[in-house]
Amino acid sequence: MAEFQIIVGSMLGGTEYVAEACEEKLVALKHNVSLHLKPTFEQIISSNQIWLICTSTHGAGDLPDNIQEFAADLSACDQDLSSTSFIVIGVGDSNYDTFCQAAKKIESILISKGCNKILENLSLDMSLDIDPEECAQQWLNENKDLF
Ligand SMILES: Cc1cc2nc3c(=O)[nH]c(=O)nc-3n(C[C@H](O)[C@H](O)[C@H](O)COP(=O)(O)O)c2cc1C
Repeated sequence: MAEFQIIVGSMLGGTEYVAEACEEKLVALKHNVSLHLKPTFEQIISSNQIWLICTSTHGAGDLPDNIQEFAADLSACDQDLSSTSFIVIGVGDSNYDTFCQAAKKIESILISKGCNKILENLSLDMSLDIDPEECAQQWLNENKDLF
């Protein structure tokens, strides 16, 4: 059983549904899960946790407003995050050159802080006829042996 902190970046709310679907799947897999729809860096446990970042991209490859402060605080922190693992789900639209760029930005900050990447990002392309919640749940299930 692992400890998950789901950290959500969403402008219009769609990614919140994806995050809630992930919470449901991880709980079904018997993990402990906390969901942060308004993430505050100081309040999110990092020690021996798996951070699941679910974020859309807005503007021209920008992070959604609600996760910008978290990203800035993470970037500025001098905490030891070597016991923090992470996985990233990006929600975007491949018609943009900056497809899922916010997810890549968060990923590179986490790597720069010494966090351990468990698997390659899942990028959900909303320009396709997909069920993003189902895709995310399936992806977690396929990779369940990694956490
Ligand atoms: C103004 C605007 C800008 C966007 N910019 C990007 C972008 O740069 N890259 C990308 O992959 N998707 C982009 N998107 C697509 C959103 O990421 C996509 O619609 C996503 O589902 C929104 O999720 P949310 O409801 O959680 O905010 C943009 C959407 C809007 C409305």
